[in-house]
Amino acid sequence: MISLNWKTLGLAVFGVFASIHSTSAEVASTKAFDLSKPSYDLFRSKKLHDATVQQGFAFDNDNRRLFVAQRRDTSSETSGDLCITQLDFDGNYVGYMYLTGFGHGVSFGTQGVGSSTYLWTEVEANGNGYGKKLARFKFVSGTTLTSSSSSIKKLKPVSDATEHTCSIDPVPNHLIVRYNLSGGKHIAVYDLDDATDGNFTNPLADFKHPSVSTKSSTFQGYAAFGEYIYLLTGNSYPDSSEGKINSEITAVNMNTGAVTQGPTLTKAGSTLSFREPEGLAIYRTVAGEVRLFLGFASGEAGDRRSNLFYKNAFL
Ligand SMILES: *[C@@H]1O[C@H](CO)[C@@H](O)[C@H](O)[C@H]1NC(C)=O
Ligand SMILES: *[C@@H]1O[C@H](CO)[C@@H](O)[C@H](O)[C@H]1NC(C)=O
Repeated sequence: MISLNWKTLGLAVFGVFASIHSTSAEVASTKAFDLSKPSYDLFRSKKLHDATVQQGFAFDNDNRRLFVAQRRDTSSETSGDLCITQLDFDGNYVGYMYLTGFGHGVSFGTQGVGSSTYLWTEVEANGNGYGKKLARFKFVSGTTLTSSSSSIKKLKPVSDATEHTCSIDPVPNHLIVRYNLSGGKHIAVYDLDDATDGNFTNPLADFKHPSVSTKSSTFQGYAAFGEYIYLLTGNSYPDSSEGKINSEITAVNMNTGAVTQGPTLTKAGSTLSFREPEGLAIYRTVAGEVRLFLGFASGEAGDRRSNLFYKNAFL
């Protein structure tokens, strides 16, 4: 009886430590961007490989490359066919890749592996053109992958989720996943090395998307730096925004799931024609400055252009 009691006690103590360990998983604290401070131009009015509006964009921070997603020309809105264009940091065209049946492109991630860039995108587009799972594969310019290509590693971080998209925080190397469950969208954060191994057992954060009272309900992108995620909403101005700029960014602390700043109106690129907010991304410069980039589509139908701005002030 006595030895059994000791065993029971031992298990109970182990259980306490185990639960302390699992609840202590969290995203290390960082400072937050000040969304009320101005944005600066990286470039305006650059051509992508195809002519549709840009969607998300991402930096391979290790190899200092930039990639922009858009729906492939001539494909339908619900096809999930994407074009990924590589640009240099002046917005000059470098290369492209076609992805057939992947998703909408609202957000994707890039991971430097040696001198190669691996893309993390949604894949297996559902009937609405949004990806059910995530895919990881090497960027090879001039090639086309289909949703069933053998060079893709498919991942499903949350088994019950019906949609997954992602973004990569290149500073601490986190994979940020936005997924849909019954009852709404959620966001989870994983160590990128674990995620690369297909290990999603230990999220650093996992919370329900906060309900935010934004001027526009159109979700246009997200990016995280450390503890905070930034959410972009808005419509094309003046075309679909009743003549008023309605692009906003909201900051959320991922350890608490609570809004910490915003929604804050951004007037970056306010003079662009057909100014549609499209995508957020984080980049750390060679000098070590971390920037929150904001993307906008502009220009005429049939000749849409890419525009990137950034914020670099912290609270
Ligand atoms: C989200 O998941 C719920 C439950 O599976 C489903 O009813 C709903 O259609 C999904 N929404 C989207 C946009 O996939
Ligand atoms: C998955 O990742 C967690 C957290 O890093 C780690 O503790 C665990 O050992 C990993 N599991 C496997 C099977 O590698």
